[in-house]
Amino acid sequence: MYQYAAVLGHQPHISLAELSAAIPGFSLESLETKTVALFSTPEEIDADLINLLGGTIMLAQRITEADVSMSDIPKLLSGEVTKVKKKVTFGLRCYNIPRGDIKTAYRKGKEEMKRQGRPCRYIGNDKKPAATALLKDSGVVSGKKGVELFVIRRPNELWVGKTIGIQDIDAYTHRDMEKPVRDTTVGLLPPKLAQILLNFGGWMAREALPEEEKKKNAARKRKKKEIYTVLDPFCGTGVILMECLLRSWPVEGSDVTTKAVNGSKKNIEWIRKELKILKKDVSDSVTKHDATKAFSHKTLPDIVVTETSLGPNLSKKPNKTELKSLVKESEKLQEAFLQNAAATLPGVPLVCTWPFWRLGAENVRLEKIWDALTKAGYEAVLPDEIVADNPERPSLLYQRKDQFVGREIVILRPIEKS
Ligand SMILES: C[S@@+](CC[C@H](N)C(=O)[O-])C[C@H]1O[C@@H](n2cnc3c(N)ncnc32)[C@H](O)[C@@H]1O
Repeated sequence: MYQYAAVLGHQPHISLAELSAAIPGFSLESLETKTVALFSTPEEIDADLINLLGGTIMLAQRITEADVSMSDIPKLLSGEVTKVKKKVTFGLRCYNIPRGDIKTAYRKGKEEMKRQGRPCRYIGNDKKPAATALLKDSGVVSGKKGVELFVIRRPNELWVGKTIGIQDIDAYTHRDMEKPVRDTTVGLLPPKLAQILLNFGGWMAREALPEEEKKKNAARKRKKKEIYTVLDPFCGTGVILMECLLRSWPVEGSDVTTKAVNGSKKNIEWIRKELKILKKDVSDSVTKHDATKAFSHKTLPDIVVTETSLGPNLSKKPNKTELKSLVKESEKLQEAFLQNAAATLPGVPLVCTWPFWRLGAENVRLEKIWDALTKAGYEAVLPDEIVADNPERPSLLYQRKDQFVGREIVILRPIEKS
């Protein structure tokens, strides 16, 4: 088994669910803090995976299983940088370790490098590990110019790993802020959340493979990149579509408004140019279509991944009566869409977000839709080891403090007819 630490994003329950969905054989070992999870996997993780995980900020791989202590850090450090040419850069990212011990480890690390006649510099200090931007630029994550050791004091052991991946914040900001069409009136889906939804979709598609295919995939040492075809029937200005293209997943988008369709097309054209994603390598199409009306796909998509309507753009918090009518409207739309998907996209799993509203301390969620989804022939599921607040209504709530409308993520598997 390979062991890893993940630094989770600001919605850790969703980040964990994403890890479980994206990494076959994922097994959660412990949550060391609210945002640091330790887990193991039967296969080694490709460090590039971090670029497809919206909910994980950093990944570290354990480098020793032997019983080690802080005094072993200099030795572990030098063992990790044998291939580094010229100057060695190193850092320590420590959890539950007293500052004095971190300071000593830095000093001894430097002394060890000096003893070996190797010039070195360290990033971060006993008060704070290196900022992520510095880490990215310093070449320690790739291992080319050095290493950052990731150290956690656990009750019975010292867990020591090395940082192998770090989220590229600049790339997300660029995709989010620089795309030509941003429509604030329908809500802006963060690219990270789009990735999370796609990873849930990937899990569903993998699960739906015939048993034989699953076994073949598991047996293949170096698996081929997973490619799934996606439909986003409420595509808005196309964040999900763009994220599909980035991972080479062919995608179709549709929306009921011409404005959204044109917006998506422009954004797709932009991302293709920016990142040189060629049509011959990965296809897309965007059409005007009402998601409650029959889909007519010659070949069904592997998955539907979509952020459904968040409802009208509100200038102020609605009162209880207004909220009731918002809920009713949304239930009607969601139900009509589910019935339509069941009839015209048979057997295709759906990953959707539904709106919910925050009224003071209370979350007002869609209610009737839970019966409707069973009637339409779906069951809501969550990735392995992920426990829902309400096991009868498994879903994940995504909310931001500054936003009044949240998104309830549901993963809907078609119920097999016996
Ligand atoms: C929350 S937005 C989706 C935003 C999108 N994820 C993005 O990246 O911009 C919901 C979209 O659903 C569309 N919509 C609402 N009712 C629809 C329907 N019946 N069929 C298709 N699209 C619909 C709206 O026009 C809106 O663009």
